[in-house]
Amino acid sequence: MAIKKRLFKIFEESSFCLRNRYLAKNHILSKPQGLRFDINYKIQSDSIIRIPGGISLTAGSVFETEVFLKGNIIMYKNGALHTYLDEINPLFPRFRPSPNDILNQSVLEKLEDENIHITEDMVTWEFDHIKYKLTFNPLRLEGFYKDELIIAANSKSLMNFEKYRPKGDENNINEVDVNFPIKIIDATQLIEEGEGGYKNIGNIWSEEYLDYIDEKPRGPSSVALDFEFFNASHVYGIPEHADSLALNDTKEGSPYRLFNCDNFSYKLGDTAAIYGAVPFMVSRSPALKSAGVFWLNSSETWIDIETLPQSKHSHWISEAGALEFFLFVGNSPLSVIETYTLLTGPAQLPPLSVLGYHQCRWNYNTREDLLEVSNGFLTNSIPLDVVWLDIEHTDKKKYFTWDDEKFPDPTSMQEILAKQGRNLVTIVDPHIKRDPDYFVHQDSENHNYYVANNEGNSFEGVCWPGISSWLDFTRPEVREYWSSNFDYSKYQNSTNNLYIWNDMNEPSVFNSPEGTMPRGNLHGNYEHREVHNTYGMYMQQASYQGLLKRSQKKERPFVLTRSFFAGTQKYGAIWTGDNAAEWSYLEYSVPMHLAIAIGGISFCGSDVGGFFGDPTPELLVRWYQLGAYYPFFRGHAHIESERREPWLFGEEALRKIRAAIRERYALLPYWYGLFYIYRTCGTPVIRPMFLEYPEIEECASLDRQYLVGSSLLVAGITKELQEHVDVFLPQGRWFDYHTLLEINAGQQSFQVQEDWIPVLIKGGSIIPRKNTPRMSSKEMLADPYSFLIAIDSNDSAQGFLYADDTISHNYMSGEYILADIQLNDFKLSYNLTNTMELENNIDEIMIIGLSRIPNEMILDIKGQKKPIDFGVRNNMIVINISDITISQNWTIEFK
Ligand code: GLC
Repeated sequence: MAIKKRLFKIFEESSFCLRNRYLAKNHILSKPQGLRFDINYKIQSDSIIRIPGGISLTAGSVFETEVFLKGNIIMYKNGALHTYLDEINPLFPRFRPSPNDILNQSVLEKLEDENIHITEDMVTWEFDHIKYKLTFNPLRLEGFYKDELIIAANSKSLMNFEKYRPKGDENNINEVDVNFPIKIIDATQLIEEGEGGYKNIGNIWSEEYLDYIDEKPRGPSSVALDFEFFNASHVYGIPEHADSLALNDTKEGSPYRLFNCDNFSYKLGDTAAIYGAVPFMVSRSPALKSAGVFWLNSSETWIDIETLPQSKHSHWISEAGALEFFLFVGNSPLSVIETYTLLTGPAQLPPLSVLGYHQCRWNYNTREDLLEVSNGFLTNSIPLDVVWLDIEHTDKKKYFTWDDEKFPDPTSMQEILAKQGRNLVTIVDPHIKRDPDYFVHQDSENHNYYVANNEGNSFEGVCWPGISSWLDFTRPEVREYWSSNFDYSKYQNSTNNLYIWNDMNEPSVFNSPEGTMPRGNLHGNYEHREVHNTYGMYMQQASYQGLLKRSQKKERPFVLTRSFFAGTQKYGAIWTGDNAAEWSYLEYSVPMHLAIAIGGISFCGSDVGGFFGDPTPELLVRWYQLGAYYPFFRGHAHIESERREPWLFGEEALRKIRAAIRERYALLPYWYGLFYIYRTCGTPVIRPMFLEYPEIEECASLDRQYLVGSSLLVAGITKELQEHVDVFLPQGRWFDYHTLLEINAGQQSFQVQEDWIPVLIKGGSIIPRKNTPRMSSKEMLADPYSFLIAIDSNDSAQGFLYADDTISHNYMSGEYILADIQLNDFKLSYNLTNTMELENNIDEIMIIGLSRIPNEMILDIKGQKKPIDFGVRNNMIVINISDITISQNWTIEFK
């Protein structure tokens, strides 16, 4: 287990955070004698110009004549309100992640003029049940749902926009006598509070941290704003943190930090930043109303949360960038999350195979080793879809190359895997070895593609290959270049069977502050500090584009990334980085995944078994049992960990692991359908309890159990020798997935079983499955489907089936099967709403919980009726059919 010293900043070491927190504290609490914190902003009412969907405006401080902000506020028909404010004639341009990269233009239809009312001192937008109100002086933006105020921006006037200023400007006062009454224009002029209080606040032109100095030639540039969620009981989101799902009050502790960094073996139960950042937060209220904020800023961000008597108050503080955000209001947290996820999506529909099981390790050492592992899964009858190669497979960590000695003839290796129904994933990291003979390095130097240091030369740092440089993925031409490297002619010995893993892309730089790039590095006109949190997303985007191009856009790419940002769902999957083989990491994987899914990224997982260290057989088995219900399901291990292929832990462990992985494969049709709905509606694939049951108070902070779709409830066993698992089952009928017994709603204590973890089916569900165990998802393609039906208290159930060719983009032009399946009034009907030629049969329908056993069952296909066979087995009605396919309509009447 790796031991590390603290490498990462705490908020007391971040001057822009301190300045804004100081401002907030003195704004909300009493003002120190003599100091005035009058930074309130107002909008110039005569600056308002009507534009499509809203207004353009200028703004400034209430106490100054100078107007220094300009921008616009626009409402879209998806219910979101978009605000963008930037400086008028800034000394330096402020970075704004390109709307085309982050936002889904197809959902951005602007509201009509007639829904927008502009008066002397306010603007209102009204659409459906949603209303937004902007008041000019002081600037305040409110969101209402059905006339109830549920969110306000700048609610406590914590807006702060530190405009760029020349060094030496009179505003650069960094010593203030607290007894001297001065007017504060922005928080840069504050210094310390006194004994033991804040220090270094005026330290705005350079900042020290450990042995590093962050020279800040552009001076202070922070932007901050507060959002109050009225009547909210909880707020959630802002991944990635290894913390509880419901966000905690930070008044006494540290604000949540968003700053992508290689925080390996991260501390659990902590607000520290780790690998990814999604600045999106959503509220829940008992009154079934919900609001959301998407703070579109890619610089380091700190977020404070305070519980007030009638609200949750949040304060967002970013180091740089423009002031840009979206507000959402709706009738439930789910609807707000769906709107956000589509706005920054749509999510990719992955090729089916990557929803299967992945076997990885740092490293499979040779071609023989890799193929032996793949064969091991065959001989042990364990399904597997993807095997992975980590950094050691390359020629001296030069990505897009192979170590010829260890991996001779990689093409034939991929062909062997392909015959077994398996894909290969290779790692491609962003650090480029500065080797004059390496083509990526040559191209990048020749075309100036690298991120520059603060003097304008290619930045050099240390990572796996030694001295390296980093491509500037924020520039479109660099992404274009990067994506060309995936062409079969350039990535030699790669085949269409090979997918990609982008790691270390926060980016991780071993010899630099906080293990990432110095903030003063340059991306064209912008400093690294401004673009930081988008770096990994842009890299994954470029890799995704590369795989797309290599197949002339025909095949769906798969790219795993460690670093992520809002919108990452468009480009592939993420995992939670370097965890450890400890029970606590298994436990925290659930709240972490749920928060990431709230942030729009459902395709997430954690290293099964734990990356660092060695799991006991018990921990490994429990990890597989829960991992089978992670959206991204991959076993992975550190180079110094013992080998841990499933058959190395004895027969018992092997049997249980095999069963867990098979359970995943049987449910692949259900997972695939959920991914389709996620893509089309933005609905998360895995869901915290409160999303499906927003009205139930007990569900609001549950984060050790969760739902896959709305039909399966999963609770991990995350303690050694655990005897009982507590699970809360909301009102309604529930059935144990393994025993099929009905379980009462309410708080339940499950006795721990060795062979499985608690999984429950919600009454009223229809779950598509494939029952025949195979060795990969590709081997299952022609297999028949079956349906598991769990009845609700009205003898009804519903579900759907989605199927397509599993690999191409033809589904986008309508080549897919979507069937609505309903059981009502003792009649089961399968209705296609879209169809294509697929010949899979339906072989079995299993029904649990029906109030009576039918006497007869009549199958009706296009008016042709005939009785069909059924039997009763362990409280379950089993219908066996053989002559219907998934591409025809039918009904079965229960007489
Ligand atoms: C990082 C990754 C880990 C990988 C290793 C070597 O630590 O998080 O998954 O195995 O680098 O590439």
